[in-house]
This record gives sequence, structure tokens and C-alpha cells, in this order.
Amino acid sequence: MFKDLLKASRSIRRFYEEDDIPEEMLRDWVDNVRYTPSTANGQSLKFKICTSEEERELIFPCLKWAGALPDWDGPEPGEYPSAYVLIFDDLSLGKNRPIDVGICAQTIMLSAAEAGYGGCILGSVDRAKVMAGLGIDTEKYALANVLALGRPKETVMLVPVKEDGDIKYYRDKDGIHYVPKRGLEEILL
Ligand SMILES: Cc1cc2nc3c(=O)[nH]c(=O)nc-3n(C[C@H](O)[C@H](O)[C@H](O)COP(=O)(O)O)c2cc1C
Repeated sequence: MFKDLLKASRSIRRFYEEDDIPEEMLRDWVDNVRYTPSTANGQSLKFKICTSEEERELIFPCLKWAGALPDWDGPEPGEYPSAYVLIFDDLSLGKNRPIDVGICAQTIMLSAAEAGYGGCILGSVDRAKVMAGLGIDTEKYALANVLALGRPKETVMLVPVKEDGDIKYYRDKDGIHYVPKRGLEEILL
């Protein structure tokens, strides 16, 4: 069951934009991070759920999608994420905690997948623009990553890495997205 959930939890970059994610559900996904480990039990991260039209219009242009697909400019109108969860370091509690951020990000992505939603962890973000647009104090918080979320409108398939070792994801003519994953023997030392 857990492995099925992991396999289903792919990076999704095209969504049914009109399918809103209920606020209570988003809050519950963030609630799940309270049960995860953190550096020295610091629980130093903060989360902002963004679903309003205004917030979505601000955040979307600040994101860079699928660097490995240079011919694709990102989701088209109507395929944009319907919600975002922004993860911040609370600088009064700690800073630069990428492992904590990763644990929380994956916890939220798995929560979304379990509920039939999907999304993408984004690191290529114009952080200054997002922070300024949302009026968030940069002396108190630092934006770590953005989670873009919605109802998936694309098919993503996992495939084994071929002998040439190429790990770049790609799409076929029907827009199916393929993600090469290394085999167990390759990652075991
Ligand atoms: C820390 C982190 C940052 C990422 N940043 C971006 C990003 O800025 N833009 C993007 O389209 N995908 C981003 N991704 C998604 C990866 O490209 C994706 O995980 C990878 O292609 C493998 O696909 P999978 O998640 O379906 O296994 C990021 C993933 C992680 C974990």
C-alpha cells in the first residue's frame, strides 16, 4: 500500500485548474507535517496555504517549470495549479533546514496523492517577488520551497534508467510524461 502511494505520488505539472482543493483538506495535509521529525525537534518551518485568485496570479509567474523540457513553457491557462503551499524557515527558530523542508514537502505531496490530488515541489522560484507580493517580512521568514497542487491532468509513468544512464525526464507525442528511475542494485552500495 505504501509503495503504491509512493509510486502514485509523481511530480504533476498540469492540472484541472477549475477543481479547487477544499481548504479543510489543505489544512489537514499541513497538519500531517506536525508528526514528522525535525532537526533537534525545532519544528522551525511555517506554511502558507494560498488559494485565492489574487495569490494564484501572483505566485504562478514566479515559478519555473520542468527545466529538462526547454520546449515547454509550463502549464497553459486552465491547467494552472489550484492551490499552493509555501514553506518558510521561521528565522526566529532556525534557518537553512533543507532536510526538514524535504521531509515536510514529501509528507504534503503524499497526503495529496492519497486524496487523489497531485503537485510539484518547486525550487526554481522568484522568492523575492513572492515574498514582496504576499507582504511577508524577510527579516522573519525565508521562503524555502513552493508546493504547487491540484487535480492532475497528465499521465506520468516511471521507467527504468537505460544503459546510457540518462535520467532526464521526457514526454512522448501524446504528452505522456516519463520519469527514469534508477534500479535498486544501482543505488545499493
Ligand atoms: C527540491 C526539489 C526541487 C524541485 N524543483 C522543481 C522546479 O523548480 N520545477 C519543476 O518543474 N520541478 C521541480 N522539482 C521536481 C523534479 O523535477 C521531479 O521530482 C523529478 O523530475 C522526478 O519526478 P518525480 O517527482 O515524478 O519522481 C523539484 C523537486 C525537488 C525534490
